[in-house]
Amino acid sequence: MTRNFLFLVGAARAGGNTEMLARRAAKALPGDVEQCWLRLPELPLPPFEDRRHGAGSHPEPGENEQLLMDATFAATDIVVVSPVYWYSVAASVKLYLDYWSGWMRLPVEFKAKMRGKTLWGVSVLSETAREAQPLIGTLELCAEYLSMNWGGVLLGNGSRPGDVLLDADAMSAAETFFDRALVTA
Ligand SMILES: Cc1cc2nc3c(=O)[nH]c(=O)nc-3n(C[C@H](O)[C@H](O)[C@H](O)COP(=O)(O)O)c2cc1C
Repeated sequence: MTRNFLFLVGAARAGGNTEMLARRAAKALPGDVEQCWLRLPELPLPPFEDRRHGAGSHPEPGENEQLLMDATFAATDIVVVSPVYWYSVAASVKLYLDYWSGWMRLPVEFKAKMRGKTLWGVSVLSETAREAQPLIGTLELCAEYLSMNWGGVLLGNGSRPGDVLLDADAMSAAETFFDRALVTA
């Protein structure tokens, strides 16, 4: 099966450590693996409205929402590329995940389409791996809820842009991070 990787970059600045680390990992993917890169802050979504429990149906998707939904469905692998912000994912990523709840209530077979995809994370933080646990747990539990495969999180250390390039362990782990995807392809 051809793998189609969707990289969703949630950082609130362009060209930061998280994207650098993700690009290094992506570079190791074979050429026949398709890659789609989207920066969530450049595809803003309206505040999520919880219309469950009798408050009507999920609103008709706008242009950015439709683009994100289509890219999500087209992917075999979704890579959340998010810095650790206050121990968790960036707000743009959290909003995207909240929209999953809306998509569950559209006639698009959301759960069936998500089942069997693989969810991955790439993240950078200035503290230690301990402080990344809420981000890791968020992504892993989202994957579990939707019967997705869990790819794990590639973690790097850094604060100023470029710091992560000096994190030799992370750079080395990036080279083989996606290998598991190819074994099961
Ligand atoms: C809003 C915000 C919250 C942050 N919260 C944390 C945190 O909880 N723990 C941490 O180690 N670093 C935290 N940082 C530092 C970033 O994780 C770090 O600078 C990272 O390199 C940013 O990603 P980027 O380089 O891809 O933009 C925070 C940075 C910002 C802007």
